[in-house]
Amino acid sequence: MREALESLRTEALAATEAADQLEVLRDLKVKYLGKKGELTSVLRGMGKLSAEERPVIGSLANEIRSQLEEALKTKETHLEELQLDEKIREEKLDVSLPGIVNPIGAAHPLAAVIEEIEDIFVGMGFEVVEGPEVETDQFNFEMLNIPKDHPARDMQDTFYITDDILLRTHTSAAQIRTMLEKGGNTAVRIISPGKVYRRDDDDATHSHQFTQIEGLVVDKGVSMSELNGVLLTFIEKIFGAGTEMRLRPSYFPFTEPSVEVDIYHPEKEWVEILGAGMVHPNVLAKAGYNPERYTGFAFGIGIERIAMLKYNIDDIRHFYQNDLRFLKQFRSV
Ligand code: DAH
Repeated sequence: MREALESLRTEALAATEAADQLEVLRDLKVKYLGKKGELTSVLRGMGKLSAEERPVIGSLANEIRSQLEEALKTKETHLEELQLDEKIREEKLDVSLPGIVNPIGAAHPLAAVIEEIEDIFVGMGFEVVEGPEVETDQFNFEMLNIPKDHPARDMQDTFYITDDILLRTHTSAAQIRTMLEKGGNTAVRIISPGKVYRRDDDDATHSHQFTQIEGLVVDKGVSMSELNGVLLTFIEKIFGAGTEMRLRPSYFPFTEPSVEVDIYHPEKEWVEILGAGMVHPNVLAKAGYNPERYTGFAFGIGIERIAMLKYNIDDIRHFYQNDLRFLKQFRSV
């Protein structure tokens, strides 16, 4: 019986040593130590032994059991570690792999310039309002002191939809809408950006559709010197401190006096960037403001002109062609 136990020990330890998978170990445990296992069945023969032999064999069997248990446990731990190592190796992330680049868009240069101008005027207490691109002849012309036969209509060749409805030729129509809305006894301090349309042949400096920002201030005691201060602040903010500005007398039917405003550009010298003036008393009156009590100033800024000067763009058509090579240059604007 001793031999049987010893050879079982040798065989079981060798099998444990050779096991290379956790499942194999589990089977060995059942095979040798399980209820119907080999060690158990050897011990079942103990009854046939003499009284002296019984404790000797019993203690040998216990020794073998704990030795085998120990060996199985050690091997199990070892195999589990190997398995974990393998898993870690498989799941390893290669952080040096190039990432997935999600293309990020950027604001169109005109949108970016409008936003910049809005910020400047909001900083001076202006409110931003928007008007419709399809306008009435009434708001686009008549109420701005430009009657049907007025020669100023020739300067703004118009896309008419019907006799009375048109594509607005300037954002000045927003002046009338705002004043009517405010009701004739509230101060007005607004800018209004948007697209405008004229029947022009497109070339490097003309486009049948372009962008303006209108400005309007109406209150008691508004003066030309305030207009001057507001415009100079705007120009220095957008083109840099120290940028020179000059006002030239001009004519617009809706302002009196009227001016055209130039800035000094190092290469192009004096360049016109906007029209402005004191709101004509007729315009105030038509829109419900008593010109005896209220005065106002207005201005109209050409956005493309500003953007072209600011970023040295030589052809207005670049803005509308959506060529990515052009647009990508404004990523950080
Ligand atoms: N509406 C004019 C244009 O499109 C620009 C303009 C000039 C707007 C003088 C004004 C202004 O508000 O006061 O050419």
